[in-house]
Formats: sequence, structure tokens, C-alpha cells
Amino acid sequence: MSWDEHTRQGTLDLVRQVGAWIQNERRHFETGQVETKSLNSLVSYVDRHAEDSLIQGLQTLVPESGFLGEEGGSQSWVDGGLNWIIDPLDGTTNFIHDLPPYAISLALMDGDSLRWGAVYELGQDQLYWAEKGLGAFCGTRRLTIADGPAIDQGLVATGFPYHDFDSMESYLQVLRACFQGSRGVRRFGSAATDLAWVADGRFQAFFEHGLAPWDVAAGILLVREAGGHVGTFSGPAASDLDLVHSRQIVAGNPTAHATLESWTKTSFSL
Ligand code: IPD
Ligand code: CA
Ligand code: CA
Repeated sequence: MSWDEHTRQGTLDLVRQVGAWIQNERRHFETGQVETKSLNSLVSYVDRHAEDSLIQGLQTLVPESGFLGEEGGSQSWVDGGLNWIIDPLDGTTNFIHDLPPYAISLALMDGDSLRWGAVYELGQDQLYWAEKGLGAFCGTRRLTIADGPAIDQGLVATGFPYHDFDSMESYLQVLRACFQGSRGVRRFGSAATDLAWVADGRFQAFFEHGLAPWDVAAGILLVREAGGHVGTFSGPAASDLDLVHSRQIVAGNPTAHATLESWTKTSFSL
């Protein structure tokens, strides 16, 4: 098992390096360089090259690990072993429109459990990371939301549906409860950043439907290690692996999470 202080530092350095490269590309990025993967799902050479660089660096740092990356650079999941879940650029639409936030999201799973994760938000140059049992941090600052405020004293973050409109009515019901029961709702366009900002106490809760493992894996560990709770719309998942694949997420400080989960449970009648 080759995950220690040395590999952790190496991984943080790699994330910083790839982040600097992305920011440099942003300076001369042109909209003609954008491709459409599916309805409203955009990609460019920046996403693909960033994923390749991350995979290359991680293969050197932790040679026995497998990968699940959004851009499919290497799909080599090692059952029961160490695996990286990578979103090389979360918030691609923001990046293309030159809007913050957008982030690198990188998580390490050990078997069915999340072990380590980082979200590098490039707009504010903030590197969030967490390790199971060690805590959650922004740089060297420890994050704690265990005593965070109730949802009626807080902000809720979410992502609006843009390609899968099947659960629209249930989603709008939860939104209505959020409008009436919180200080307000925000949609920033990067789920990984939304979760990092829950862990940092900027948002008190977050929910979204239809997310992929790479959108949420690192952020789940950040929220949990900061003292918050994360689960599906109907409650806790059986394992972290189930949770990252569930395509539903509710996160928050313990009090706000409980309230938001009661709203998703009722509205999605799960
Ligand atoms: C997207 C962002 C967005 C969320 C979408 C994701 P991408 O990721 O996280 O906030 O609402 O569902 O797909 O495509 O920018 O990596
Ligand atoms: Ca994403
Ligand atoms: Ca992405």
C-alpha cells in the first residue's frame, strides 16, 4: 500500500501543476475549440489534456492504482484495490464562458471507501483536500462544520437539470421547499466546488440529481471530514462506492443536511 505523506505531497503538487496549466490555457482560450459530447455537455482539449497529465503523474506516484476519469483517458478499475476518480475540469461550461468557479476534482478510493480527495478551485486559487480520519483542509486551514447553522439560517447550493429532465417535478418541489425554508439558493456550475464550499461553511447544504462519480467523490470526503453528513435522497448509502454511483446527493452540516434530506425524501418519494 503506497499511500503516505510523500505520495500525498506529490499528489497535491501534481494537482497544483495541472491547475496552473489550465489557468494558463484560459488566457488564450477560444470558443471555436469547444466540442459537444451530448446535449449541453461540452468539452475541449483542456479537459482531455488535464486528465492525461493527472493520470500520467498518478501512475508514477501510485503505480498499482486504477482510474475512472470523466474523459475516459484510462478506464482500468482495480476491483477492491486503489482507484482514482478524476474530473479534470469540473465546471467546463463556466471555463468556456470565462466564469468562476471551475475546479479539478480528484479522489482516491481504497476498496469501497473514499480514502483521500482534493478539489482545486481555480477561480479563487483554493486547494481543498481531505483524508479519511485526518480531517478536511483548505491549504493548511482545518475545516469544521459540525456545529453549522440550521438551513433557515443558511444557503443551499444545487445544480439545475440541463440534459435529463425526467425528475423535473420532484426537483422543483425540493427547490420550492428550499426557497421557502432557507436564506436562498445558489447555482454556481461546479458540483465539486459546491461540495468544497459546503465543507468550508459557505453553503450550509447542497443537493443535485444526475451527477457522476467524478463530480462528487472528492467533495463527499471533504464534507464528511469537515464534520458534515452526505447521503442519497433517501438516506445513507451502503458504501462510499454506492454513494458515488447513486446519481443523487444531499450534503450539509448535520442539522441542515437532516432538513434537506427530509425534503428530498418527501419530494422524490423514495
Ligand atoms: C458539471 C458540473 C455542474 C453540474 C453538472 C456536471 P462538468 O460537471 O459539476 O455543476 O450541474 O451536472 O456535469 O461537466 O462541468 O465536469
Ligand atoms: Ca463534472
Ligand atoms: Ca468535467
